[in-house]
Amino acid sequence: MSAAVDAVVDAVANVQLADAKPRAHDQVITPWEVQGSVAADGKQEGIDYDKLISQFGTRRIDNALLERFERLTGQRPHVFLRRGMFFSHREFDKILDRYEQGKPFFLYTGRGPSSDSMHLGHMVPFVFTKWLQDVFECPVVIQLTDDEKFLFKHELKPEQTKQFSRQNAKDIIACGFNLDKTFIFSNYEYMGGMFYQNVSKISRQITYNQVKATFGFNESDNIGKIHFASIQAAPSFSNSFPHIFGAVSNIPCLIPCAIDQDPYFRLARDIAQKLKYQKPTLIHSKFFPALQGPQTKMSASDPNSSIFMTDKPNQIKKKINAHGFSGGRETEEEHRRLGGDTEVDVAYQYLTFFLDDDEELAKLGEDYRSGTLLTGQPQGKMYFPIAERRTAISEELVDSFMSAQRQISPSCGRAQAQ
Ligand code: TYM
Ligand code: TRP
Repeated sequence: MSAAVDAVVDAVANVQLADAKPRAHDQVITPWEVQGSVAADGKQEGIDYDKLISQFGTRRIDNALLERFERLTGQRPHVFLRRGMFFSHREFDKILDRYEQGKPFFLYTGRGPSSDSMHLGHMVPFVFTKWLQDVFECPVVIQLTDDEKFLFKHELKPEQTKQFSRQNAKDIIACGFNLDKTFIFSNYEYMGGMFYQNVSKISRQITYNQVKATFGFNESDNIGKIHFASIQAAPSFSNSFPHIFGAVSNIPCLIPCAIDQDPYFRLARDIAQKLKYQKPTLIHSKFFPALQGPQTKMSASDPNSSIFMTDKPNQIKKKINAHGFSGGRETEEEHRRLGGDTEVDVAYQYLTFFLDDDEELAKLGEDYRSGTLLTGQPQGKMYFPIAERRTAISEELVDSFMSAQRQISPSCGRAQAQ
């Protein structure tokens, strides 16, 4: 055989090999893709969050920080903090300093309305933000990026993403946000005024090279995508909301989000300095795992990977049984003898979110690991009251939360008391 033919045979064999198992790669965490690393033997790994902390240059949330939080606020840290779901931050301690000094700050978070129902992963930052609002008694702004989803998803029309914004607002409101202190806005509706002025001030500070380096865009991406970072950055600055903060531009915010959104805010922190604004501070969560296992996140584009707010309890149970990655053994006999693996069992992982009671969770874990609790049994415990409350949210209530024609007090609990 000639060398050329050899080369072709090799190439074909390689392609077949590549098809048989995913090519080895490092983990990928961007606002668009979350994937654990793949080893040379094709084995999928879970996401390495320690590595992310060092790659992104963030700080770990440690016990000292949680103790200080509890001392200052008199509140026991939320289960998401106690169990390490929120694991990383940028200058969260600065927000605690302000709380201690009785100085105001606000919370900012958001959602890209790509579908009419949010999944449980999307709910994590909102459940947590609602809790922080109760603790700090501070204003919350929530950005619905209907423009972003139009620019990034070619199958969607603006009419659809606007409609998704309203539907998603219901999921968000069902978390229990305080209407007097919460502003939910759709970019398509709210753009203009001081908000747009900030968008343009921000965009003048960002070059194409920076965006390319931060997000990996190239010359073929539409220019809306390239500009979008300035729109997600703008709500970090208090004067984007004159009906809350008037013209005051120096009230800082804390942004709760999963760590995939961090690149936007690294950029925003950079720009804040140039514009003489306050840098946004952040508190980052891990990803709520997909049903298929901890190496990727729940994703709305794969319905079998996710539990949606609109799924009924019996549907949830069925989905987990059909698609959930199990830490159980092959047979009941083996399971009773060897016990299950809580590290990888998706149903158990979900319970670490659903169950507030630490003791009950610890007992369930022990029973599962020792083999007395069988695969399939934890599913019965999954009950999500927020999903039930959602059905009672009226269109009028959505209008109220999304109205900028009302005064919202800029003060926080402690600031007000002084
Ligand atoms: P979106 O709609 O992709 O996600 C909404 C929020 O949910 C987080 N998230 C998850 N958290 C835990 N487990 C998961 N599996 C999971 N999947 C998503 C996201 O990190 C995010 O916090 N561009 C944004 C919208 C946005 C925003 C913001 C988000 C605008 N401004 C400020 C956070 C903070 C987006 O498309 O999010
Ligand atoms: N127990 C809280 C509630 O239902 C928080 C919570 C439990 C949660 N499980 C969750 C939030 C899963 C997001 C996803 O109100």
